[in-house]
Amino acid sequence: MKTHWNNTALTRLLNLDYPIIQGPFGGGLSTVDLVSAVSSAGALGGYGAYQLQPSEITALNAKIRQQTKGSYALNLWVPLPHQRKAYTLTDHKQVIKRLRPALKALYLEELRFPELIPPDFEEQAEAVIAAKPAAFSFVFGIPSPLILEACRRNGIVTIGAATTVEEGVALEMAGVDVIVASGFEAGGHRPSFLKPAEDSVMSTFVLLQLLKEKVKTPVVAAGGITTADSAATALRLGASGVQIGTAFLACKESGATEEHRAAIFSKVANETVLTSVFTGRLARGSKSVLSEQLKDITLAPFPYQSELMAPLRRAATALGQQHYVTYWMGQAAPLVKETTVEALMKRLISGLSAVF
Ligand SMILES: Cc1cc2nc3c(=O)[nH]c(=O)nc-3n(C[C@H](O)[C@H](O)[C@H](O)COP(=O)(O)O)c2cc1C
Repeated sequence: MKTHWNNTALTRLLNLDYPIIQGPFGGGLSTVDLVSAVSSAGALGGYGAYQLQPSEITALNAKIRQQTKGSYALNLWVPLPHQRKAYTLTDHKQVIKRLRPALKALYLEELRFPELIPPDFEEQAEAVIAAKPAAFSFVFGIPSPLILEACRRNGIVTIGAATTVEEGVALEMAGVDVIVASGFEAGGHRPSFLKPAEDSVMSTFVLLQLLKEKVKTPVVAAGGITTADSAATALRLGASGVQIGTAFLACKESGATEEHRAAIFSKVANETVLTSVFTGRLARGSKSVLSEQLKDITLAPFPYQSELMAPLRRAATALGQQHYVTYWMGQAAPLVKETTVEALMKRLISGLSAVF
């Protein structure tokens, strides 16, 4: 039954039963099973597709469509103006020198120069629009007016992320339909695009309240929300919904590895840090030997740094040295209890129904 808590601008825009968004995950951690389980449960599932080529997005969409009739979002990363920082062979040699102690500790010799051809954002966005998901969500910026207009024409709700009030205002001015207030508690990258991420570290509830004073666009709270009580607080503070990442990542339907899921439920979840060491961009995950050893060292820019660290991640896992690497999770990870979408949704819905 719809009462006031599950009848918000967000549920109306997207035809949802509940004002809950499953935070999309990049890096191969989204799955069709996760998105469809969440969407079929009446919330908004989301697939992080930023690494996919346009044809892969089309194929992915067909698979999600087969598994759910619910609303879901496809999610992309808008290229930052300085994204394509050059990374040369000379840079690579320097970086390898700096990584030498870490490589030695993990019995690795050399790291190959990363040859990367990242997908073209405009072409990815075209594939998303042709797929006509209920929502197109994006981080790290604002797509062009042409793309936003094409979404409007095709009835696709646009969802953009803000880490500061200025970014929220910019999203509203561009005509984006929903703003995700992304607090520093959140797991994964800080999707800042106006100021450096290091200077855009506001908590979820402060950012939510400040944005509510400045914009008329519906705001969704993201970061640190794992329980019905925290979701209820966000709704009381004026959020039209909540976006939950870490708690969905811990569910068996996600693409997280066994080690990653175990880390969320282990002692390492008690201490998370914001680190650029693993991707070249600031992101929150568990504190690790490498997040500390390499924190003051100049490494490769994004996306090269992600490629360089992948073998270290694999080696640490193979050697049973999980404490060497950071596992992405938010500050509220120790509060996560459920391991399936069904159990998590049940706890959220019954808790929210009880408090409202
Ligand atoms: C491993 C990981 C990957 C993520 N990748 C993306 C992404 O590609 N796009 C995006 O919009 N948000 C991404 N996020 C952010 C989540 O969608 C969500 O906003 C965030 O996890 C909410 O905070 P919480 O983890 O405290 O619940 C990611 C988060 C994590 C933990």
